[in-house]
Amino acid sequence: MAKADALIFSCSECGYKTGKWYGCCPACKQWDSFTEEKAPLSIKRSSSRKNAAPTIMRRLSEIDSHEQERIFSGITEWDRVLGGGIMPASFTILTGDPGIGKSTLLMHVANKIAENYNVFYFSTEESLEQLKLRASRLDCISDKLLFSDQAQFGTIMATVDQHRPDVVIIDSIQNCVLEDSPSLPGTIGQLRELALYFMRLAKDKHVALILTGHITKEGAMAGPKMMEHMVDTVLYLSGDDQWQNRMLRTIKNRFGPTGELGFFEMGSAGLSELKNINEYLLSDTVCTPGSVLVSHMEGSRPLLLEVQALVVASKFSTPQRVISGVDYNQVVLIAAILEKHLKIRFSSYDIFFKVSGGFKIKGSNLDLGIAIALLSSFFQKAFDKKTVAVGEISLAGLVKPASFGEQLIKEAVKFGIQHILVASKQASSSAHCRSCSTVHDILSVFD
Ligand code: TYD
Ligand code: MG
Repeated sequence: MAKADALIFSCSECGYKTGKWYGCCPACKQWDSFTEEKAPLSIKRSSSRKNAAPTIMRRLSEIDSHEQERIFSGITEWDRVLGGGIMPASFTILTGDPGIGKSTLLMHVANKIAENYNVFYFSTEESLEQLKLRASRLDCISDKLLFSDQAQFGTIMATVDQHRPDVVIIDSIQNCVLEDSPSLPGTIGQLRELALYFMRLAKDKHVALILTGHITKEGAMAGPKMMEHMVDTVLYLSGDDQWQNRMLRTIKNRFGPTGELGFFEMGSAGLSELKNINEYLLSDTVCTPGSVLVSHMEGSRPLLLEVQALVVASKFSTPQRVISGVDYNQVVLIAAILEKHLKIRFSSYDIFFKVSGGFKIKGSNLDLGIAIALLSSFFQKAFDKKTVAVGEISLAGLVKPASFGEQLIKEAVKFGIQHILVASKQASSSAHCRSCSTVHDILSVFD
């Protein structure tokens, strides 16, 4: 007699599995998130595993390998982030908040790639009419690009098997339906199975697969996070609600460096590349009290970003600290160092701090810029020319050299910055550098 399928319960938020049902997940504390699943594939397939034939073990020297030609889109920011274009037969996932621009970006990329390669675009979320409206807005109506609004995995697999396109885009995996699966579309159980089948599809049929996946409201990449180890490349598209700029970052890449960044701007005709991001950022900066530029490394790119501080006498017994774009504790720490060594009572002042353009940056290289912005606002003194600050500040109030200092200084000089504040050890890097050894030296830059 056939054994009944063992049942397991899995949390749709975090993927936690258990043999019994819970109202509240013991792992992530989410209520009402448990769904029933059949036993995992490994258990169900135990009989076929027993009958499996042994494989032939090979030496790597016997393997014929050659560097594969990448699939270039001509969209430089996209190609660079991927490490030089899409690798044939690779499996990539593009994640980001709903509405951030994933479908828009892929439509642009697909349209460009379709000029030289066969591209199939499966939209599991939008109808063909909706896709046409979007494509017209983006001016991406190429007759070489083929679309489908089918969401069934079996249909997608059969189509790919028959036509063998070079690139397949699936937007999104959460709305993809795995036929005969006991779990619902979008649940962890189904996403995990789908990811496994898609990975096999990419490798066996030699197609480059690009999937999109939403991240949850809380910012955790619930589904996509769980798939990260199965895919070759994880891309993350981010941005700010109030700003139109979008950043594309590689979180994982088997075929190139991680941490690489690409910049885009969302407009009425979709996403346009910001190839010269520093020119774009600097065009908006003005010299006002509380504002200074920091040179900051993102991936392999130095960015010139404006940080802004507003320091005002507090009306409350506990002064306010409203900080965005940089680490809250970093600003509080720098204010405490300045208070201790320069005897400035920041503890009786409210501090408001932000990074222009909605960017989120971190790193000890920002310490000097934060200190200068705070002091500039406190004294209500602005620099008479654009000023960049790069350096770390120790608890003892010493200014230390910045990591990647040479590169950061070079970038500032390239964009015509003639006033660069650095640690004394880095001051020789350029004639435009002015050295600060301690926080006391910072006071003299306002004279
Ligand atoms: P979309 O690519 O659908 O986001 P995702 O696939 O990540 O969910 O982008 C939707 C948002 O982008 C929507 O808020 C409108 C905006 N948008 C523009 O501003 N301009 C455009 O040309 C397009 C197509 C979208
Ligand atoms: Mg979308």
